[in-house]
Amino acid sequence: MTGRDTEEMTILPFIHFPLSHPRFTSYFCRMKILLLGSGGREHALARKISESPLCEALFIAPGNPGTLQHGINIPLNVNDFQAIKDFCVQENIGMVVVGPEDPLVNGIYDFFQQQDSLKSIHVIGPSKLGAQLEGSKAFAKAFMQRHQIPTAAYREFDLSTYSEGEDYLRAHTLPIVLKADGLAAGKGVVIAETHDEALDTFRAMIQDQKFGAAGSKVVIEQFLTGIECSVFAITDGKDYVLLPSAKDYKRIGEGDTGLNTGGMGAISPVPFIDDAFMQKVTDQVIIPTIKGIAAENIVYKGFVFFGLIKVGDAPYVIEYNCRMGDPETEVVMPRLESDLVELLLSLKDQQLAGHTCVHSALHAATVMLVSKGYPEDYEKGKTITGLDGIQNSILFHAGTRMEQDQLLTNGGRVLAITSLAPTLAEALQRSKKNAGLVEFDGKTFRNDIGWEF
Ligand code: AMP
Ligand code: GLY
Repeated sequence: MTGRDTEEMTILPFIHFPLSHPRFTSYFCRMKILLLGSGGREHALARKISESPLCEALFIAPGNPGTLQHGINIPLNVNDFQAIKDFCVQENIGMVVVGPEDPLVNGIYDFFQQQDSLKSIHVIGPSKLGAQLEGSKAFAKAFMQRHQIPTAAYREFDLSTYSEGEDYLRAHTLPIVLKADGLAAGKGVVIAETHDEALDTFRAMIQDQKFGAAGSKVVIEQFLTGIECSVFAITDGKDYVLLPSAKDYKRIGEGDTGLNTGGMGAISPVPFIDDAFMQKVTDQVIIPTIKGIAAENIVYKGFVFFGLIKVGDAPYVIEYNCRMGDPETEVVMPRLESDLVELLLSLKDQQLAGHTCVHSALHAATVMLVSKGYPEDYEKGKTITGLDGIQNSILFHAGTRMEQDQLLTNGGRVLAITSLAPTLAEALQRSKKNAGLVEFDGKTFRNDIGWEF
């Protein structure tokens, strides 16, 4: 421990092993925590982190009016590493939890590691290389191939192999999945129903640079038919624990129709993830992924989000994300009974082994209230009322802001209403009822979250 740490950290009374034990610093020191991000995911993380006795103070940058209930909002840009550094040094931050993918893909972990004044600060998230599992579809696919992790068959192409790519597309069975290699805010995946559409998309991505540099390389993959779900792990790069699983509802329209969104709602647990399927996911996906990370010496101390599709009885990986999902976090965190901060602290010195993650037996459902027009153009600044009537649900702020004591909409996804209940049906019913009580001009939500179960 540095002198600075000793001064600022309060030691908790329940010490079970000698102070000289190497786990001492990670386990029993309260610390100041900085959480980066501003959505519903960050509100759910802030709520959970602030419940931990290990959290001395929580700052959220930039946060939103909801995170303000659990800590202090700091107006920092999540990609302004220099400003984040200055704040961490000034406030003696012990841990930085990174909510969104951008700062991770941009290398925030490495930035902290490379500076002496920041090295002791524990950043939750993978290194820049590890974040490529989300930041580059081609990197993720090659990683899965190297480690025999089930995923759709694929090829990658760029400008230098453009005509080969066209030939490949012409000979491919339909539908065809085209993915811009880099981050494209959830818009870089096109499922083409005809060869002409596939060729047009291919040209738009590579030649017309519709997604900028993100589309300079394109992954073309086999279309898989099945049902999607998400599994989340916390890893120290060597061991892992599993968080509750979740299913999100990405389409804007009821019955899973219309445009893709960031997510219109989520449920946890996922009814079709039974023990037999989970065993396959563990053996074929999770363990090989963590072993692959370790074997390739990828530094990874954070969340892994496995986007899966169940084809028949078999799991396939659709994508990796190097952070938690949104709105999945709004159902996962309320079902996590273990101390999240204790789990995250154990990652620093790769001490996760032996930890367990206790999940609530309750079902969680969240319903997202979104602005009219989302995921395309929408208006902001609408007055939000009716929150006082909400009972027995947790209200997570996603895109809101305060102006002179009045809550206003400030994004496409505005609020997530999460309920916990002994059955999924009860949780859904309560979230939907409370969703009806909130009022703002253009309020839109899906009344059919969890419709298949
Ligand atoms: P991604 O950004 O990779 O998660 O893809 C976005 C969405 O496209 C996924 O949630 C799936 O619904 C769909 N998708 C992606 N890859 C495939 C595939 N190989 N087969 C079928 N659907 C896919
Ligand atoms: N809800 C999907 C995601 O967070 O990527």
